[in-house]
Amino acid sequence: MAAPSSSSSAAADVFHSTPFAPPDAIFALTAGYQADPFDKKVNLGVGAYRDNNGKPFVLPVVRKAKQILANDDSLDHEYLPIGGLPAFTNATGKLIFGADSPAIKEGRVVSIQTISGTGANHYGAEFLARFYEPFKGKSQAEKVIYVSNPTWANHKAIFSSCGLTPVDYPYYDPATIGLALPKFLDFLRTAPAQSVFLLHACAHNPTGVDPTREQWEEIAAIFKEKGHFAFFDCAYQGFASGDLDNDAWAVRYFVSQSIPLLVCQSYAKNAGLYGERIGALNLVASHAGEGEGGAARLRSQLLVLQRQEISNPPTFGARIVGMILNDDDMFEQWKGDIKTMAHRIIAMREKLHDLLVNTYKTPAPGPNGWDHVVKQIGMFTFTGLNPEQCKAMVERGHVYMTGNGRISMAGLNESNVEYVAECFDKAIRGTL
Ligand SMILES: Cc1ncc(COP(=O)(O)O)c(C=O)c1O
Repeated sequence: MAAPSSSSSAAADVFHSTPFAPPDAIFALTAGYQADPFDKKVNLGVGAYRDNNGKPFVLPVVRKAKQILANDDSLDHEYLPIGGLPAFTNATGKLIFGADSPAIKEGRVVSIQTISGTGANHYGAEFLARFYEPFKGKSQAEKVIYVSNPTWANHKAIFSSCGLTPVDYPYYDPATIGLALPKFLDFLRTAPAQSVFLLHACAHNPTGVDPTREQWEEIAAIFKEKGHFAFFDCAYQGFASGDLDNDAWAVRYFVSQSIPLLVCQSYAKNAGLYGERIGALNLVASHAGEGEGGAARLRSQLLVLQRQEISNPPTFGARIVGMILNDDDMFEQWKGDIKTMAHRIIAMREKLHDLLVNTYKTPAPGPNGWDHVVKQIGMFTFTGLNPEQCKAMVERGHVYMTGNGRISMAGLNESNVEYVAECFDKAIRGTL
């Protein structure tokens, strides 16, 4: 019998029609920044916190937790349970819903450990595609999840790959550089009953535009009336305002209104654990127990999803966050660390605003001057710069930002904010 041919061209051929995928825009921007020899270059693209020296920040409380783990000889490297580390999963729901949450006390909250916020979004979408009653018997095209226009770039890709169809709802108004509230409310009113809406719990990415509490109440009233489902993505709890409870307000209000919902959590930003990939998906069931719609049934299906996807979640990040959430002193220290980060960002907003308004007297892109720089919340600011001005910022100013005008406030610090403001001024006046 002839030996099988080992021709390399035959091997390559089985993938010959694989198309080139475009590079991820944000990571391509970072590559451009890294290759740039200009000494005053600034990276305002990537959504990761930097300290006042432009360096990654290991939270002191995380450093402490790591030392405790390193000295604990009782820890082994066995698989975690499929649902995650119990010390973590029993505590993470309390952080977002509140320790006194009736939903938790009634045993209606189901929390599963996920691969950070991305993994939580992934399971949330898959769970709805499989089990959301109004989707039963529908094709993928009919399983719609409404997403804010704009939203985090990965939302649409994740939801499509999990069997849902993302469709935009109006959210951001470029004319005011603020919330398009009337259009958003109209859309909620006219959408079919029991529609699924993605909501950013706080610190909307990419716009930094969050509804006020009064606006959330208006939004929630329509959810309640129409029976809509709220798919909350909470990637910045604490990081937005510096206060964990404040940033959970919208989620807790929706729960208090008995609106059906789930919440995705990420500890990437608020604990600086970007690489550890620690997060959670929380479902709120209508009742505890094993009966129809009960928490135990929902949990059993989440375990199936996890088993099929990653078998068992990773241990290290869960141990760190589990320790912080369960130890009163460490929890207090974490709150202080969060304030350090959030307040540095807020200080940079104020500084940039002051430079544009008072030092450079830069013409503003919207009707409300540069107020949006201080009013927007969280990691990002939607500056209002047009694509041409953004291009000039990158190509002539060496200030790396995305073409939609978004900047990461975390990339600003005392050493570069004046240079960035000067570039903004020149880009807007067309002199850069
Ligand atoms: C709105 C939003 N959701 C989810 C994520 C996912 O983050 P991670 O998977 O790193 O936790 C991000 C990260 O930038 C985000 O901005």
